[in-house]
Formats: sequence, C-alpha cells, structure tokens
Amino acid sequence: MGKEWTVHNPGGSRRVIVTKQLPGNRWLDILVAADCTVEVCESDDVLSVDEITERIGDHCDGAIGQLTEDWNADLFAALKAAGGSAYSNYAVGYNNVDVAGATASGIPVGNTPGVLTETTAEMAAALTLSAGRRVVEADRFMRAGNYHGWLPTMYMGQRFHGKTVGIIGCGRIGAAYGRMMVEGFKMNLVYFDLYANENLEAFVKDYSELLVAHGEAPVTATRLDTIEDVMRTADVVSIHTVLDESTHHLVNAERLALMKDDAILINSSRGPVVDEVALVEHCKTHPEFKAGLDVFEDEPAMKPGLNELDNVTIVPHIASATTWTRQGMATLAAANVAGILQGHPLWTGDDVLPFLDGDFPPYAPSIVNAADLGIN
Ligand code: DGY
Repeated sequence: MGKEWTVHNPGGSRRVIVTKQLPGNRWLDILVAADCTVEVCESDDVLSVDEITERIGDHCDGAIGQLTEDWNADLFAALKAAGGSAYSNYAVGYNNVDVAGATASGIPVGNTPGVLTETTAEMAAALTLSAGRRVVEADRFMRAGNYHGWLPTMYMGQRFHGKTVGIIGCGRIGAAYGRMMVEGFKMNLVYFDLYANENLEAFVKDYSELLVAHGEAPVTATRLDTIEDVMRTADVVSIHTVLDESTHHLVNAERLALMKDDAILINSSRGPVVDEVALVEHCKTHPEFKAGLDVFEDEPAMKPGLNELDNVTIVPHIASATTWTRQGMATLAAANVAGILQGHPLWTGDDVLPFLDGDFPPYAPSIVNAADLGIN
C-alpha cells in the first residue's frame, strides 16, 4: 500500500521530499523560505529504494533522507534525472549513502555534524554507568517485586574513579565522551586514533594540574599505538569510529579476548563495527564482562541471544535523541538542501550554532563531497 505524504507550502517553485517526519519547525521554515514545496512521508516504515524513486518522480529538486535508507547510486541517478541537485542525510554518519554514486550524478551530500557531539557522548556515558553499575538489571529486579531487603552483596558493579577509559576513534564525540569520563570520574584516558588529539591531551594535562593543585591524584591522556593496546589496558572501551570497510568488525573475538574479564565495552557508533555474534559469545562466557549498546549489527534486529544476556544494556539507537539535537539535525539537513538549491557557499566554521537560532545564515552547513564537486 502506498505511504501517506503531507505536503507543506504547495505553491513553492521547488520540490523537496523528506522521507520521515522531523522534529521542530525551523527546518520547515528554512525550506519554505527557500520557496520549496516540502513533502513529508508520514510512515514509520523504512522506505525502499523503489518507494523513494517513485516519490522522486519526474520532478524533484532535493531530498532529506534517513540513515535507515539505502541511498545508492541508482537513487541519486533518479534524483538527478528528476532535475534534483541537493541531498542531505538526517544524520552525521553517512555509511548508508553511496557518496561516490552521488558525486557521479553531481549531487552534493549533506550531513549534520556539530549538534550530536555532547548528546551522543552523554548517552555513551549513560550506557557506561548503566552497564557498570547494573542499573537496568537492578530496575528489572525491583519491578519483579524481588527486593526483600538490603544485602551486602547485592548487585555489586564497577567503580570508575581512578580507572582507565579507552577510546577507539577520538574525534569530536570520542573526545567529548573521554572528557566526561576524565572530568566526572577522574579516569585516566588511553585512545587509539590515526591522528593525535592534541586538544584533548592538552585539556587533560591542564585538568590534571588543577586536580593536583587541589590535592587530588593526577590524570593522564595517552595515545596508544594499536587498538590491541587499548583493549588490553582499559577498564572501559568506548567505540567512536565511522563505519567503513576498515572498521567493519573492528571489535572481533580476538580483540574481545584481550580485554580484562570485568571490562566494559560501549558502542554508540555503528552496529557492524562490533562482531555481535562474537560479543554474545564473549558475554556468555565472561559473566563479569559488561556491554552497553546503542547500535546493532542488523539493526533493528539483534543477533540471537543478545537480549537474554543480563550483562548487556541495550537501547534502540537513541544516542542523539534529545530534543535540541534532533531539532538541530533537522535544521542542518534543511539548511544543507536549501543552501545548495539557492547556490549558497559552504559554511567553513566548525561551529554550526549560528544555524540554530535567529536569521538563517546563507550557507550550506556541511557537504561531505563538496571538494569533489568544486563547492566552496
Ligand atoms: C548519526 O547521526 O549518525 C546518528 O547515528 C544518529 O543518532
């Protein structure tokens, strides 16, 4: 059965399709101000390539799509053939987008960096605490009416203070998470990344001096040579890489085996970065080990056995789900599409906050294939 679509600003001179309802109004105001008719799919189902192609039809100027959709080369060719010239993912990640295919069709691809950083890091921290302190397990125990009185040995978990947090992929979100764990729990930090994160290292050094000046133990931030070194050293390992061929199953059985028996693994990046079958096996055979997962290899499905494990805390890909962030993502996605359609230049600042309030800056905030398409 065909999906229902709501049409906003039917008299617009441009046509933009949006494959899911988005939060807030600012994104819609941006597109309407750019004289776009905006068609929004009302269904919660994931749209197939065929369904999106059908909706693009023979005239469509731009599209905002979702990380759950397969934006492949055929889809960009269809958008191009319909006269389209702008696409934005409603996400900072774009592993669902064939960027080379889009570039081949001359279509700029937008994403939404800069509004997910702290929010996603906060969820990674929440998963860390939930897993380490067994919050969800204990909640289930209470609800089942099993609490019959305080006991010295009940639901003992991990203490974070002074331990070591490990980060794989120390970009914006990884570094924000690292800072939270260092500042909040005075953890030492180790990380693996192809590039040194000098800002983070300098911050931790300064913070350490502050702690020492107040009579507390120092903290350190150290870039390690290999992923294996991080897995071996850290008490908590949090994954913050992109998903591509080089990171697929980056956490596999061999690397899990290097981790401490009572370590904690957190993944809020992309599911396939962790070999989920290997993780299920590892959690079964290492009851003291804990995992906190926001993302899954075959999302929305889970690998068999995952949902039976008490030592795993699982949430449905909600790391970016705060009202501010999700509205900000909508604003940036709309500004990408509206900016390109109106021929605006690319925003060069790191800070995207000017897009979120007041007058809309006449720029496209983030276009991942801008250099290849000669957009500046
Ligand atoms: C993203 O934007 O890539 C996130 O996964 C959405 O939560």
